[in-house]
Amino acid sequence: MSATAAAPDTLFGSVHLGYAVIETLRFDDWRRFGTDAIGMHVDDSLRDFLRFRLDDHECRFLLQRGPAEDVVALGWHVDDHASFDEIVARVRSRDVPATEGTPEESLLRGVERLVRFPGPKGIVQEVFTRPLLAPGPLDMATGTFVTGASGMGHVALTSTRPHQVRGYFATVFDARLSDFIEETINGARLKIRFLRVNERHHTLAIAATRDVPLDPIATRVQHLNVQVATLDDMVAAYRRVRENGFDIALSVGQHTNDKELSFYARTPSGFEWEVGWNPIVVDEATWEPTTHQGISIWGHTPVGQTVLDKLSMFRVAAGSARRREDTVPALSGQGIPD
Ligand SMILES: [Fe+2]
Repeated sequence: MSATAAAPDTLFGSVHLGYAVIETLRFDDWRRFGTDAIGMHVDDSLRDFLRFRLDDHECRFLLQRGPAEDVVALGWHVDDHASFDEIVARVRSRDVPATEGTPEESLLRGVERLVRFPGPKGIVQEVFTRPLLAPGPLDMATGTFVTGASGMGHVALTSTRPHQVRGYFATVFDARLSDFIEETINGARLKIRFLRVNERHHTLAIAATRDVPLDPIATRVQHLNVQVATLDDMVAAYRRVRENGFDIALSVGQHTNDKELSFYARTPSGFEWEVGWNPIVVDEATWEPTTHQGISIWGHTPVGQTVLDKLSMFRVAAGSARRREDTVPALSGQGIPD
């Protein structure tokens, strides 16, 4: 006999970043980047797809062929069916379509089944409850990636409508504000909002310009983050990124808010990839949001950024003023002011 579980009081703590879907045509470079540089386990047994593992989950990154050179979907691992049903109900009750993935799509992502719905900036949001576990052992240069209750890392994006993006993740997942960072980069005053959905200090970072709303980043995500278990793993990844000829975007440094030690590499698709170690874990009983000045206590120095890079960012930013960013208004509502 099955009973319908009551809707949970909150989804906070029950949602974990599970996988990312990346669309690219640069499979050879991504294969080298993922395995030789970042040190993940590669699975190239599927024609036309490339997958990376970090742990016993069959898939943490699914690369599919296409021109976007971007993250096109995020998969969220939901602990239980009641929470899963609650998320889908919240989406559908606001007349936003939530559709079942096909069996083939589920298999590719290494999950039993999934439901997807639209997300901010055109990043499709997918939810699942049961990951498929890989039958074989890990074969990877990195010793251990930290996943589990914290999820597989975090995602940072830029937005011209940050309050709406925050509203979206509060509506859908009961995301909580961890803190803010104010920073000036290339003369632009930025404010970054850090949201958590579980013990990880942030699973989402939303950066926005503080004056005129401009988006200087051409890709939907600015960076993805994975966390390694030891300082040696982080330093070894840094060395491998350089030895394999990939660009470092920001040198090793330490963040002001979550105290994570990390560096940023540039992926073959253009967005950045942060490898981090030892971020703090939030204690819900005592945590109070604050505002930090500057993203880093030390380090995180831009490496090899040319005048052309800066000019292209300003060109993208200028273009963003003319585009209206999609935040899925039915789910973001009026947004949440800072
Ligand atoms: Fe980050």
